[in-house]
Amino acid sequence: MPPTTDTTGTVRVRVHLDPADWSRHLAEETRRGLTDDPPWTPPVWFYDEVGSHLFDRITRLDEYYPTEAERSILAARSDEIAHLTGARTLVELGSGTSDKTRLLLDALWAAGTLRTFSPVDVSEEVLRTAATAIAEGYPGIAVDAVVGDFGRHLDRIPTGGRTLLAFLGSTIGNLDPDQRRAFLASVTDALAPGDWFLLGTDLVKDEARLLAAYDDAAGVTAAFNRNALVVMNRELGADFDPDAYSHRSHWDPVAHRIEMHLVADRHQRVTVRGLDDLVVDLGAGEHLRTEISTKFTAEGVEHELLAAGLEPVSAWTDPAGDVRLTLARRP
Ligand code: SAH
Ligand code: AVI
Repeated sequence: MPPTTDTTGTVRVRVHLDPADWSRHLAEETRRGLTDDPPWTPPVWFYDEVGSHLFDRITRLDEYYPTEAERSILAARSDEIAHLTGARTLVELGSGTSDKTRLLLDALWAAGTLRTFSPVDVSEEVLRTAATAIAEGYPGIAVDAVVGDFGRHLDRIPTGGRTLLAFLGSTIGNLDPDQRRAFLASVTDALAPGDWFLLGTDLVKDEARLLAAYDDAAGVTAAFNRNALVVMNRELGADFDPDAYSHRSHWDPVAHRIEMHLVADRHQRVTVRGLDDLVVDLGAGEHLRTEISTKFTAEGVEHELLAAGLEPVSAWTDPAGDVRLTLARRP
């Protein structure tokens, strides 16, 4: 199906998610997860309009340090990144509100090289709002937004001239090792030699801080987690009772990852109409894993980039050493 395109002022929004294809893909993934032992669900179910707003609230919680830590690095280093890359095109994957990205846009704008900003996200409402606000704030910059899946649509992103592809917020940590390998290989393929990749990663740290970041006192992360059930009820015709599950965050010290779970408070029998009436039985205390959030070491990040054919050029952490931004180049 050709992409749907519309242009509002200097904003162009291309929809690369063919609804039927996307629904099929999500249904297959969800079936794979719900029939696995233990069961899991794809994290993309978090990000409907309600979930995207809940995520935005999470980023402003005291316990959730990654957003402000990454913002502080961008505030200190965006001029340097602009100088090093001289980017004409800035592409942002999983862009959400693109809030922190404004620091990069400011620096590239001031350097006078930036022509196009291309945010890419599956969440169309949030993408449209962000793209419109950025077009208003940066006259003269073409905003070429793509509603797409960064797991499958990287071959369709606009690259032209010197490109800087940014993947911020440690969203890469939500992919498992195989998905990360495939994703990073597709980043390398999408870039021309000499183009740049800017990767935000959360770093391994004290377990208590990690657990608190995913189980805040105000219960916003718990609401974000349960919202995935509401979205699956709506999109897949499931009959999860969101109130029958407790939110849990768990640290896996071997895989270096936080996992978010929903624990059935009592026996649950769930029927998913959109998956041919798949029945999922969860006994009292049994878990559904809804997200992994991998935490990295500096060496681990460099190793994964190099294995994908990307050459790390510079890296920065915030003063507390909580998160890392790595700038890599396709040789
Ligand atoms: N980059 C922002 C937002 C991170 S939240 C930040 O650093 O704060 C993760 C974002 O990725 C959400 O906006 C979500 O809609 C988007 N997302 C999740 N899975 C995606 C996928 N497969 N393809 C494209 N975007 C995706
Ligand atoms: C988007 N992603 C990097 C967030 C994370 O920290 O893994 C999503 C999130 N889940 C719970 N809180 C935030």
